Amino acid sequence: MSVSNDLYPNASLPLERKDSGVPYVRPNIHVESYNDFDPLRHVIVGIADNQHIPEACPASNEKIPADSPMRGSKAGRRTQESIDRANECLNGFAKTLEDRGIIVDRPGAVDWHSRITTPDFSISSGFGVMPPRDCLLTMGKSILMAPMSFRSRYFEYLAYVDLLREYFESDPNCLIEQAPRPRLSDDSFRMDYVAAYEYLSDEETMARSLRKEYSTKETDILFDAADVMRLGKDIFVQHGLTTNLAGIRWIKRKYEPQGYRVHTLSFEDNHPIHIDATFCPLRPGLMLLNPHRPLFKGQREIFEKNDWEIVEAVNPAWDNPPPLCYSSTWLSMNTLILDHNTVCVEATETGQMEQFDKLGFEVIPVDLRDAYAFGGGLHCATADVWREGTCEDYFS
Ligand code: ARG
Repeated sequence: MSVSNDLYPNASLPLERKDSGVPYVRPNIHVESYNDFDPLRHVIVGIADNQHIPEACPASNEKIPADSPMRGSKAGRRTQESIDRANECLNGFAKTLEDRGIIVDRPGAVDWHSRITTPDFSISSGFGVMPPRDCLLTMGKSILMAPMSFRSRYFEYLAYVDLLREYFESDPNCLIEQAPRPRLSDDSFRMDYVAAYEYLSDEETMARSLRKEYSTKETDILFDAADVMRLGKDIFVQHGLTTNLAGIRWIKRKYEPQGYRVHTLSFEDNHPIHIDATFCPLRPGLMLLNPHRPLFKGQREIFEKNDWEIVEAVNPAWDNPPPLCYSSTWLSMNTLILDHNTVCVEATETGQMEQFDKLGFEVIPVDLRDAYAFGGGLHCATADVWREGTCEDYFS
């Protein structure tokens, strides 16, 4: 396969991968998504291969709740047994989506085992390829690779380079972008925020969070894609441990000239990392809020003024997250919406399934709990490539 180029109209430039000869151009690829609830047509589902528990870094210490089994865990490759089981869950999830006619792509496996060294930092290993939602931000017809604020996730975008290249070559309107790369040097963090391997109590982290004092400083432009919630023309970004104010300013300056409006949100959460187990859009006019993480004062107004209903999520089915999991039990509300009436919910979350049923959704149970430790729930484990629908103005 080849393509001619405007600059060299007579040349025929190869478009196959050098190693395998597999062409970059695929038929019927369309990149476009403006929210989390319009009909899903194409999605990326993560893989668990080669995942590591990286050594603690200044950004990650603070993000692990005091009662989490991750606290104090040793760095190193996760067991093959846990990787296989997580892949079984992720493959099952991918199959469920494919059976409903959704195109599913999987990222490439990278060996994260090597030490990562840049002029500014060095860490024992990478993290993994889970969860795609943290790294990739689909904004309309473009996909942006986020800066990432964990040192172990600095090179995570490598797992997506081939796929993104395919989208770029296959859809003439698709643009692939990279946010500014942070340095993540010792200057980027309050290095004395948590002395390594020493933990802050939940009371202390909550007090600091309410004062908006995080381990990440404003030295770098930092955000993870999963702190961004897209609702058509309005983009809501959570300020917290993974996204700083410089990151939000960058998102504003990048997308507001394109017609988007960018808002900052903060929640009473002692570990504000990634918005998708805290405040989740379900369909136009309906939000699901974590009852333990109220919005800061005044921040409900934009929703209420525009007649959006905010319902509180029911309690999770579990008292504790699974072993070696970074997230809280609130992954119960981390679901994948397939369209305005259909939602995938983790299969053991019976209360959450019932709540969706009452809200008028068809609920598809998905076995995913054994993949939680690899970075999150059903929303985290995916990244949008294409949802039907256009960029609506819900908050004019
Ligand atoms: N901070 C959330 C919690 O523990 C987890 C969010 C995970 N989301 C993600 N995109 N990785 O409740």
